[in-house]
This record gives sequence, C-alpha cells and structure tokens, in this order.
Amino acid sequence: MSEKIEVYIKHDEIMSAIDDMAIKLNEEYKDKFPVFIVILKGAFMFASELVKRMNTPLNIDFMVISSYGSSTTSSGNVRIEEDIKINIENRHVIIIEDIIDTGQTIEKVKQKLSVNNPLSLKLVSLLDKPSRRIVKENPDYSCFQIEDKFVVGFGLDYNQMYRNLPYIGILTEVK
Ligand code: IMP
Ligand code: MG
Repeated sequence: MSEKIEVYIKHDEIMSAIDDMAIKLNEEYKDKFPVFIVILKGAFMFASELVKRMNTPLNIDFMVISSYGSSTTSSGNVRIEEDIKINIENRHVIIIEDIIDTGQTIEKVKQKLSVNNPLSLKLVSLLDKPSRRIVKENPDYSCFQIEDKFVVGFGLDYNQMYRNLPYIGILTEVK
C-alpha cells in the first residue's frame, strides 16, 4: 500500500487565513494576557505561525495527546501523555488544535482544563471537519471548514509522516 497526496489548501491560503485569525485574536485578547495551550503534535506548525503574529503579551504551554486507533479514523481512545505546567486559574485560555474531527479529543482536553478554573476557555483550530462530529464540541474560531477527507501536512500526519508539508493535502491510500 502506498499513498497519494493532492494539494487541497495552498501554503499562501493558509498564511492569509492565519493573518486574519491573528487580527481577530489580537483584538479580542488585547490587555487580557492570554495563555495559548498548543495541542501536540499536530498543532505545532499552526501555533508557531499564529503566535508570531500576536502582538499582545501571552504565555504558551503544551499538552501532548495521543489517540490510538487506525491511521485515518479517530478512535476516541484519547490519552493525555503530557500535561501543561502553567497555572491557568483565572487566566484567559486559548486552546490551539490542528483539526476538530469527531470532537472527542477536544472534549477530553476541555474537561481536563476546566477543572483548573480558567477565566475563559476558547478553542481555535486550523481545520474543522464538522460532518464527522459525534460530540457537541465546535471550535470558537477555525481557519478552514473542510469536507470529510483525510488530510495531511502543516502539522497533520498519516502514521507520523507528512507533518512537514507546507500545504494541506488530501491523502488517499493506493493499492
Ligand atoms: P477527534 O478527536 O476525532 O476530533 O480527532 C482529533 C485528532 O485526530 C486530531 O487532533 C488529529 O490528530 C486527528 N485527525 C482527525 N482528522 C484528521 C485528518 O484528516 N488528518 C490527520 N489527522 C486527523
Ligand atoms: Mg492532533
């Protein structure tokens, strides 16, 4: 089995969507000293582009999540491998994700973070795949809504490959 990747969202389009996202967040979080919590590994590239564009003081921390299952479908077996170190009590928190698919990962992350009583908790995702949602979780902001396709690149992987692609591509398995 091998894979074929077809460009779906070009690098330039991603950059300009992140520019727009940063404008919104800079306005909303001006003087709020937010905490950005980056969900690894998938969100690393989106987060690095986004935070470079932020012009308000902020903190950044990371949560490492893994979910076990087949390569192209979410399993719901979400495990928090590494938690944040920063204290988020009474802070404005923004979760940075790569993609919201079934919503199970983000449901678990939000439950975990809510226990620490943040002042506010919002979800920003590069991609949103609403057609596959099975729990009631939606991003507050997303750069792109996509169809029910398995995508890779710009942080997203297939068997830990293709995270480095500078664009988002649709992956298909070919026999
Ligand atoms: P959820 O729990 O079903 O919302 O899945 C979220 C996680 O599954 C994401 O953080 C990704 O790591 C992974 N995922 C979901 N859809 C895709 C995809 O199209 N390409 C690559 N990874 C995906
Ligand atoms: Mg992920």
